[in-house]
Amino acid sequence: MQLFIDTADIAVLKALAETGLVDGVTTNPSLIAKSGRQFIPTIAEICELIPGPISAEVAAIDAPTMIKEGEKLAGIASNVVVKLPLTFEGLKACAHFASQGIMTNVTLCFSVTQALLAAKAGATYVSPFVGRLEDQGADGIELLAEIRAVYDTYGYETEILAASIRTPAQVKAAALAGADCATLPPGVFRDLVKHPLTDKGLEQFLSDWKGTGQSILGELG
Ligand code: G3P
Repeated sequence: MQLFIDTADIAVLKALAETGLVDGVTTNPSLIAKSGRQFIPTIAEICELIPGPISAEVAAIDAPTMIKEGEKLAGIASNVVVKLPLTFEGLKACAHFASQGIMTNVTLCFSVTQALLAAKAGATYVSPFVGRLEDQGADGIELLAEIRAVYDTYGYETEILAASIRTPAQVKAAALAGADCATLPPGVFRDLVKHPLTDKGLEQFLSDWKGTGQSILGELG
């Protein structure tokens, strides 16, 4: 399962990239606004920092302008993924980019039928918004599982990118539901490694080791 980071904060991305476990990055207009930085240079910097897919979202609502914006974004670097909204205009632009071999991420997906249309339009990724559905009491994980079933039945290669993730439990559930990737806020990514029994166990090992008075690097090898 690929793990992407959902942020446009370069300093945060630099720190997380050092783990060697970041497969890509997703951004959206809200995250760019939050960064307080210019869109194009920010995407260029992220693309240099992380070699995986970097989603950059168009701002237009009509297909011809989405295509112009997407071409500009795709020109930034070869790992840019043009992010498009799940509307008929977005799907028209998606089909255009698919025919050009340009990667796309169709976003704001909240239903199986929307995901079906994204696959038919040749999307590279579809982004079902798990957290926003669950905020409303709906089952975002069930949506992932249903999209998985439909895509597998018909052999669609569009990758399911679980988005709007709020907790490590949702990451686990997304993995079990067969999502190909998940995009995580930085805090959720950091939380994936944490377990109180890991901390407790490590503390005990270190204390017992100290009691032996030995040093691995000091041993004659
Ligand atoms: O980038 C899409 C998605 O991950 C947004 O998440 O937290 O704004 O619902 P959120």
